[in-house]
Amino acid sequence: MCKSEELSEKSVPLHIGKRAPTHFVTFSDTAGALPLPLNSSKANMEKNYKRTLVTAALPYANGGVHIGHLAGVYVPADIYVRYLRLRGRDVLYICGSDEHGVPVTIRARKEGCTPQEVVDRYDKIIRDSFRDFGISFDYYGRTTSDTHAHLAADFFRHLYDKGEFVEKESEQYYDEQEHTFLADRYITGECPHCHAEGAYGDQCEKCGTALSPTELIHPKSTISGSTPVLRKTKHWYLPLDKHQAWLEPWITREHADWRSNVVGQCKSWFDMGLQPRAVSRDLDWGIPVPVEGAEGKVLYVWFDAPIGYISNTKDLRPDDWELWWKSEDTRLVHFIGKDNIVFHCIVFPAMLKAHGGYVLPDNVPANEFLNLEDDKISTSRNWAVWLHEYLVDLPGKQDVLRYVLTANAPETKDNNFTWKDFQARNNNELVAVYGNFVNRALQLTRKYYDGVVPAPGEWTDFDRQTISEFNGVKAELERLIEAFRFRDALKEAMNLARIGNKYLADSEPWKVIKTDPERVKTIIHLSLQLAANLAIAFEPFLPFSSEKLRTMLAMGAPRWDALGSTDLLPAGHSLGTPELLFEKIEDEVVEAQVQKLLDTKKANEAAAYRANEVKADIDFSTFEKLDIRVGTVKACERVPKMKKLLKFTIADGLDDRTIVSGIAQHYEPEQLVGKQVCFIANLPPREFKNGLVSEGMILSAVNHDGALSVVTVDREVLPGSEVG
Ligand code: MF3
Ligand code: ZN
Repeated sequence: MCKSEELSEKSVPLHIGKRAPTHFVTFSDTAGALPLPLNSSKANMEKNYKRTLVTAALPYANGGVHIGHLAGVYVPADIYVRYLRLRGRDVLYICGSDEHGVPVTIRARKEGCTPQEVVDRYDKIIRDSFRDFGISFDYYGRTTSDTHAHLAADFFRHLYDKGEFVEKESEQYYDEQEHTFLADRYITGECPHCHAEGAYGDQCEKCGTALSPTELIHPKSTISGSTPVLRKTKHWYLPLDKHQAWLEPWITREHADWRSNVVGQCKSWFDMGLQPRAVSRDLDWGIPVPVEGAEGKVLYVWFDAPIGYISNTKDLRPDDWELWWKSEDTRLVHFIGKDNIVFHCIVFPAMLKAHGGYVLPDNVPANEFLNLEDDKISTSRNWAVWLHEYLVDLPGKQDVLRYVLTANAPETKDNNFTWKDFQARNNNELVAVYGNFVNRALQLTRKYYDGVVPAPGEWTDFDRQTISEFNGVKAELERLIEAFRFRDALKEAMNLARIGNKYLADSEPWKVIKTDPERVKTIIHLSLQLAANLAIAFEPFLPFSSEKLRTMLAMGAPRWDALGSTDLLPAGHSLGTPELLFEKIEDEVVEAQVQKLLDTKKANEAAAYRANEVKADIDFSTFEKLDIRVGTVKACERVPKMKKLLKFTIADGLDDRTIVSGIAQHYEPEQLVGKQVCFIANLPPREFKNGLVSEGMILSAVNHDGALSVVTVDREVLPGSEVG
């Protein structure tokens, strides 16, 4: 059995000339302050569009699905399509596994199996997770399907024949032992910026700088360990520079109402100037480039994957797929995470436009990232809540997770998932508000009327006021969902339950029953109508609970149009058996989940320690040659234009000494003034580019996550004291 070690395909492609950023300024803060525009306006939806094609980013089939994926892409898209279906719209929800790309081949090599075996395994795990969480795709395909291979190859060929590519030879690293060109991720070496070992050909994970493989110092092939050589190779490039002329106004003017994080990121690409992007790779896993002289070359995974949206639609609707992709009255919406913005707003539209005949996306509601317990979700560090594990530990609680992830969705800024918040939202909102209201309404019906809906009398002013409050919910939900504001929409649905709760609490049927039993019939009648409304309002968000509630109410299929009605359950209608809609989650349950994460953290730390192997033995005399001293920091300041550096003035017992140290990202200079630090006193002076000279080296410990901590002394000593 292969083990699970995750790598993610980095989105830095081959470029000619200037390189595009891998780190973006996000515009989330401004987005948070402004109400999101009601973009894809209702008018558009109702007048011009006959059908909506919704896609969700194809997940890589080299790992499972975690809460970050769910919150960022699949749940919001699911809410949207469930809503559209409820409204009777013609909609397709398309997704599938993204099965090509270098990470799959790396994993296969590591695990001693074939790439096909890797993707078969994960495709199954991913499918099961989505099914278990009620993600209601109309079709979930695979990019290893025949339909896809043909469609992607034809797509390429069409662009090739139209002269839409630029063909270019460049020098790339080649492994002479393995007789293969090396994709960026197959080359490691020393980072030219921070000098960390093990930087990848596309990025240094220590300092985050985007790299090209030729920048690495002492490059090594990760396959054979040998030093690669540069060889000429030919690739096809999509000249995005030429497409900028229409892409820029298309986004910044015609679609200025897209989410500000999306428009902002695109703008920063435009400002840098788009560059041609290679759409082929020297690799043996993928779809062969369908032109002569392209042996050993495959389509770049980011070229073939989005075409997967099309081929998966074709597999589902072999006869009319073109209607969904080529007809002007189709509305195309891509749900993605923020790391996919450039591909869906720039590269894929350019591909579609270059091909001709396809519609372009009408909106790309990209989400920001979800953190887990204040730390970035990371597959390699196993810092994640995996869907398949969640359901083992919390069986039947799909909707609780859907609820929490939506209530906390990273729509305008990165957000944080904590188990404490998970528990609180379950207990204080789902149980105490929604569940409590439904339970009281149903139990009272059973107790007083044997589970049959009582006939109402005249509405009182109080009833009318309640009805008018919940009448507004439908329009508000529509407005928010159509503007992709699912968080706020969910709040609005929850508000409906609050209205119900308040209605029961204020009308006190359990007291009134003794004095005015006729009045109680009206109260219960109206409460049950409210409960039935809740089943509809929550259907897009919490489909499992809505179904359960509909069963308890013996209600038919939900209809959106009926939302707001007070005639959903006629007098005399027999209800089903009441059950608890939600259950309280006890402390032990979430504590166990937190413990699981703490264990992960411990295991990571132990692994980091083991990874730092103890160096070869030295003689004592070698050690004695080192002159380590204690100095007092008299001054400390940042170095202009050198982000990483701090300049220290150290009292070393004799004099003041200048030491420059690369720890600016770990300390504010003020934090260090007055501290006693340890430094090596007998190193030759080192000169920096800007002429600054460092007379020594300050010692610090490197934490497993790369954070630096300066070595100090336990008791104050005189500056210049030796350490030994
Ligand atoms: N697999 C990619 C990721 O997880 C997303 C691919 S989306 C598609 O980041 F458009 F290419 F399909
Ligand atoms: Zn680096």
